[in-house]
Amino acid sequence: MAEDLDIVRTVAELRQRVKYWRDQGLSVAFVPTMGALHEGHLTLVRVGLELADRVVASVFVNPTQFGANEDLSKYPRQEAKDAELLAGAGCALMFAPGVEEMYPAGFATTVTVAGVSEGLCGTVRPGHFAGVATVVTKLLLQCLPDIALFGEKDWQQLAVIRRLACDLDIPARIVGVPTVREPDGVAMSSRNAYLSPEDRARAPALYAALQAVAAGLREGRGAAELCHRASADLLAAGFHAVDYVEVRDAATLAPVEHLAAPARILAAARLGGARLIDNIGVEKG
Ligand code: PAF
Repeated sequence: MAEDLDIVRTVAELRQRVKYWRDQGLSVAFVPTMGALHEGHLTLVRVGLELADRVVASVFVNPTQFGANEDLSKYPRQEAKDAELLAGAGCALMFAPGVEEMYPAGFATTVTVAGVSEGLCGTVRPGHFAGVATVVTKLLLQCLPDIALFGEKDWQQLAVIRRLACDLDIPARIVGVPTVREPDGVAMSSRNAYLSPEDRARAPALYAALQAVAAGLREGRGAAELCHRASADLLAAGFHAVDYVEVRDAATLAPVEHLAAPARILAAARLGGARLIDNIGVEKG
């Protein structure tokens, strides 16, 4: 591991390090993660370094955002490798708390964000966004960064976080960073590790389906028909279930049938042991 990365595990140590930088007049960017880092996360760190003097990353597999039948116990964990990757990308501090540090005995508060948490992944994963909103609120208040960076791959999550930061007057600028893709278009995700080689070869169909919907919308066709076709294409390509393919307003996430304002096409579908999500932007044009 490069020597410049410090690892702390308590909120008190995190606050002490950030205060030390602040006292020197340095600005701080924050990259919350659940570890199993890939190029997408490292891009967040690099963009953070362009926008601030120091970057802090958290590595915490947050139990409250996993449903009872989800992959909490098998979620990939590789802390030593994550620390090496963060050091290599120029991150100065890794915050890796245990579950007891984040949720001590007696913990009883949940942050829920109405509106943007509903529908899409909010329907398929009940309670997921309350878990995300709660942990991100805690992390932002623990670190109090100038900037916090999140990947656009989780577009609905980004909308939830923007809303809570605004509503709760959290003094951090929330920055969305474009999705990093493999050469064949597959969005980078820690969950791609669950794909067998055969399923990995099928995975590009998800991005292709989003692009087909975008092309149809630009031709003036309706979202409902295009999304229906995209779901059928995904099943034909070997996905075994499609949770949703939908077109939403990019900012409010309100349903869209015909392009007017900037929109987002969002999809979630199941392939082998993995649930893949992806989204792209589309504008009238
Ligand atoms: O996107 C993630 O990795 C997680 O949802 C986050 C934002 C780190 C909260 O646990």
